[in-house]
Amino acid sequence: MATPPSQTSPVSRVSQIEARIAQAVDKLFGAEQAIAAQAAVKLSRSQHADYQCNVALALAQKVKQPPRKVAEALLGELEAGGLGTVCETIEIAGPGYLNLTLRAEALAEALLAMGDDARLGVTSAATPDTVVIDYSSPNVAKELHVGHLRGTILGDALARVLDHLGHKVVRQNHLGDWGTPFGMLLENFVDDGATELARGDWTTFYQAARAKFDGDPAFAERARRRVVLLQGGDEETLVLWRALVAQSVSYLEELYSRLDVTLRPADIAGESRYNDELDGVVEELRKVDLLVESDCALCVFPAGFKGKTGDPLPLIVRKQGGGYGYASTDLATIRHRMGALGGTRLLYVVGAPQQLHLAMVFAVAREAGWLKPPVVAEHVSFGAVLGADKKMFKTRSGDNVSLSSLVDEACVRADAAVAARSPSLTAEERVATARAIGVGALKYADLSTDRNKDYVFDWDRMLAFEGNTGPYLQYAHARIRSLLRHDTLREQTIDPRALRPIEPAERALALELLDFSATVQTVGAQLAPHKLCTYLFQLATRFTTFYEQCPVLRADTTEIRDARLALAGLTARTLATGLGLLGITAPERM
Ligand code: ARG
Repeated sequence: MATPPSQTSPVSRVSQIEARIAQAVDKLFGAEQAIAAQAAVKLSRSQHADYQCNVALALAQKVKQPPRKVAEALLGELEAGGLGTVCETIEIAGPGYLNLTLRAEALAEALLAMGDDARLGVTSAATPDTVVIDYSSPNVAKELHVGHLRGTILGDALARVLDHLGHKVVRQNHLGDWGTPFGMLLENFVDDGATELARGDWTTFYQAARAKFDGDPAFAERARRRVVLLQGGDEETLVLWRALVAQSVSYLEELYSRLDVTLRPADIAGESRYNDELDGVVEELRKVDLLVESDCALCVFPAGFKGKTGDPLPLIVRKQGGGYGYASTDLATIRHRMGALGGTRLLYVVGAPQQLHLAMVFAVAREAGWLKPPVVAEHVSFGAVLGADKKMFKTRSGDNVSLSSLVDEACVRADAAVAARSPSLTAEERVATARAIGVGALKYADLSTDRNKDYVFDWDRMLAFEGNTGPYLQYAHARIRSLLRHDTLREQTIDPRALRPIEPAERALALELLDFSATVQTVGAQLAPHKLCTYLFQLATRFTTFYEQCPVLRADTTEIRDARLALAGLTARTLATGLGLLGITAPERM
């Protein structure tokens, strides 16, 4: 056994090993190659060792040497550079992979550094973005339904992750609070003689307005006039409109808080907000010569967009008769988000059916010279929620399933599970736990699916305590917390030298823990929360194996017990932090 690396510089973290490899490449093959090989230096987890590095394969072609030879040269350089104090073994495998296995001391040191860090090793962005993230964005006077579930939950998780990564996150709830439907809604409001609607009555209200509009020409005419009044700024109409919007906002606030979604009324910047900017948008498009008049509407034909017959596709920025629509408003959002909000990364968390709309809006904004690097606009698209029949998820009678009824049912179902599993909870704990489990299950089922894919809504599966589910992870966390409560030492008094993962199950758990930071970075870069879910599930699985194979409270020595408790404590913190980034609470007891 070589001496532990305590006195030398602690090159224990993966990124530091990568830096060493990059140095070796630089020394052997020069700076140019080192820069070209930057990405290939990255370590990945390996089945045959702790990590593997494929840089020799990437370099071989460029330096015109066989990959194994490159690997040998690197190996020599790494050993001479002292990487041997961190790695137990560095071996060449296959066509020229470098397989690295860390010393237990180096692993321990990395874990301790992670444990000492309130952020569990997740570094803050060196050059933070101002991320403007548009999500949830429902329409006023409408009940939120299952179709809003994904955008709301996904957007919220991404906002939390990006915020955690040190970016400045500006949330925008682009409420549909303007435009033609408001004619019939407001007119119906007037007919009802109401100034206030019964809570939760949005569906009836909307459907009644629609029915009158379709069946009563006089009403339809009034509705059309009402739109003109609204858009012309008629004060009496605006009073009604504000009342309608205010009620929608308070309904939303309640729903978001039940769902633990971080959107606040201050984040609302609805379509109406851009009303005064739309003339300017069109004027600027005219100045840069992008406007084309077509059938009395003003259009832009962004390059590269073609319809089915091969004709250029228009983005209609002003309709026949002079009204503005969804497209012009979205053009205005880009200018506002880059300008007043200072956004450098603009995210639109919107369902896949709006792919073409957003692609065209972004293209027009680029052609107009508004949207240009380094600012980027991204459509964070997502698939649909399906029923067991693989069609849109609907109620038995074929209606949309309201989001609030889903939250209700999730909590009721979770409550039954809690009552059966944890009879010792107080009534208050039981309500809170059931809510955490119910809402957590709903969110996790959604987030654990690759957002681009559709998924089938399935109560039994999402609420199962086994498998890749919210309740499983929450339970894994609660179980560790209870283990820690059994011990008087607790995680904070662990002797650093005790933490020394040697058993295979300890090592596997340790390596998994150390992947946390890279995982969160990936999720932020790729906007892929399901990768955090996969990670947390893997972590919980590793913990289970560890717990089966390595006695903790009954360990042979206090030292080993300490070490294992420290691993357990770090696992619990990582699970709770990771779930928190997904917007899911991890109860202490379950
Ligand atoms: N209100 C729209 C809808 O319900 C979604 C808005 C998305 N955001 C945007 N900037 N277009 O379909």
